[in-house]
Amino acid sequence: MKTTLDRLVQISRPYTRNGTLANYIPELTKANANALAICICDHTGNCTQSGDFNTPFTIQSVSKVVTLLYALESYGEDVFSRIGVEQTADAFNSIIKLETRNQGKPLNPLINAGAIATIAYIAEHEGKGTFRKLSAFLRKMAQNDAIHVNQDVYASEKRTGDINRALAYFQKGANSFSASVNIVLDTYFQMCSLEVHVKDLARIAQVLTNNGIIIETGERLFSEKTARMTKSIMTTCGMYDSSGHFAVTVGIPSKSGVGGGILSVVPGRYGIGTLGPALDEKGNSAAGVELLSLLSQELNLSIFQ
Ligand code: DON
Repeated sequence: MKTTLDRLVQISRPYTRNGTLANYIPELTKANANALAICICDHTGNCTQSGDFNTPFTIQSVSKVVTLLYALESYGEDVFSRIGVEQTADAFNSIIKLETRNQGKPLNPLINAGAIATIAYIAEHEGKGTFRKLSAFLRKMAQNDAIHVNQDVYASEKRTGDINRALAYFQKGANSFSASVNIVLDTYFQMCSLEVHVKDLARIAQVLTNNGIIIETGERLFSEKTARMTKSIMTTCGMYDSSGHFAVTVGIPSKSGVGGGILSVVPGRYGIGTLGPALDEKGNSAAGVELLSLLSQELNLSIFQ
């Protein structure tokens, strides 16, 4: 596995030049645009890494998967009374369909509007403890107590997060949720600013691969049903308005973030984390997508075989 990963990282690295760093959150421009890394954990818990796997990055939208898992596991399918499960074909931070479709109900939980709605739903139950609960759940999935908020990125998100504020206030104004907008946005910005490594993403993915069970401890964190619903939404919505293309070329339930991370779940086989901070025009890691495409072909990982 190590030799395969080293070779594929080398082949994919030039694709880092096909993307650019996210600059709408100024702090993210400090990332190394040429970085590329992967970690893959198998069903026995054995993890193999390649490339710049010691490079930290903020989890960004990949955290939306963890938020969804927590909401589904804690409150069941009632979450879908607030958030749909449909593709948008719009940018990840688009506001347009909040007004034109579903009267303030976001189309899915993996776009910004939907993650904000999911956090609002949780906050209506957990109040100010929402971030503490969600981040503890994420650390447990990653089995890494050291995961913390990158304060510089958090401050940068807060300073420049007016589109997210618009998404939250629009929903609150449409009576889509009753939670405090301040608590909701603060939780959202902090979740996006959690600093991780590719191994953390691979471990989080691995719990989904095992339908909710941490291999090493045997502990169940969520039900098979929660895992199945989440993997389905990752397949159809996880790569934003590139999800269809990604399904065709890679075929692995995945979720991307503008920090350059991608979390991928090969059911029953592998949990995968990749990093490549240079993003394509949809906001997905340019080299990360290429690397996953090559890996999928080489190891026959598409779920649509
Ligand atoms: O709210 C934002 O715009 C960022 N904190 C997260 C967006 C994101 O990662 C979308 N990913 N492709």
